[in-house]
Amino acid sequence: MKNGFPHFMLKEIHEQPDALKNTILPRLSKGLPDFTDDQIPDDVFKDCNQVQIVACGTAMHAGMAARALMEPLLRIPVTVSIASEFRYENPLVDDKTLVIIISQSGETIDTLAALRLAKSYGSRTLSVVNVKGSTIARESDFVLYTHAGPEIAVASTKAYSVQLAALYMVCCRMALVREKYSVAEAEDFMKKLLDSIPAMEAMIEKKDMVKALVTHLINKPDAFFIGRGLDYAFSLEGALKLKEISYIHAEAYAAGELKHGTIALITQEVPVIAIATQENVFLKTISNIREVKARGAFVILLTKESMNVEPGIADIQINIPDIGDRFTVFPIAVVLQLIAYYASVGKNLDVDQPRNLAKSVTVE
Ligand code: M6R
Repeated sequence: MKNGFPHFMLKEIHEQPDALKNTILPRLSKGLPDFTDDQIPDDVFKDCNQVQIVACGTAMHAGMAARALMEPLLRIPVTVSIASEFRYENPLVDDKTLVIIISQSGETIDTLAALRLAKSYGSRTLSVVNVKGSTIARESDFVLYTHAGPEIAVASTKAYSVQLAALYMVCCRMALVREKYSVAEAEDFMKKLLDSIPAMEAMIEKKDMVKALVTHLINKPDAFFIGRGLDYAFSLEGALKLKEISYIHAEAYAAGELKHGTIALITQEVPVIAIATQENVFLKTISNIREVKARGAFVILLTKESMNVEPGIADIQINIPDIGDRFTVFPIAVVLQLIAYYASVGKNLDVDQPRNLAKSVTVE
């Protein structure tokens, strides 16, 4: 079952490039995203004036990354809500809102309640779900299945990547039908999305490098993840993964927000995992890294090969291949998952079944 891997989580990390191919390729027609076989007509993407994304945990983090991509491109409000909050909030959604529900299992009770609430407000609902025939899939107006295959480890890995791939394709299709993208721009977007697959493979191959760095984490009570823009959205998932399976207290911060309180916690040798893959905010993040470094933090920098990083900025630097800024989440996710995985292994913990957690949360 584990195909020779010591844990399901490591197996599932390795399965990500194929999971991405299985999710993307059947929906590519002449280089463009096409949801005809999913029976999602283009008017779903055209006839809305806002997008509301609702999910929990890792699925919500996929939504946050998608939001950071969608809103600037589509020029309509794109909001992400935690399902357990949304369901009690009397949310501002209506029949002109496209509500995107994200769930690996399709059974998360709060997410299901949020879906039902959105429907009662007259919103059109599109779910991004991995488990075929699950309740959320059955009750949504439209469903976009991710093809990750069964995910056994409690810590979600491949489901996150394919949720992102599906959401990126939705974003591209929306941009095309709403005339924010020309055909050539949409083709270019999809080409870059496909480039992220070998980039993920490259990071899986570098797993021993990640394994070596966790010695700087496993004896520490806390770790911080920082980034700006899309990198901040990725940081949230990195922190969740580390907490969930290594029990190291981890927090993600928008890098510019540190100086509003959290930097007080940065002292000698506190690990800071800094993600800096976005050209438009790169220098800003580097200056935040200098701030934590000046207070003695141990900095692990995740960046792109092409970024010009001065020597001495970080204690450890891991480079992902040079792919389009908006697509760096795919190789970065692999690195963040491997950090959490090897930290858990290094602490002799139960990687696949962390304490107090279930794979599918069907109680409130
Ligand atoms: O099945 P779902 O995607 O609805 O599950 C949502 C969360 O419970 C899930 O992503 C959880 O956060 C993961 N265990 C994190 O790795």
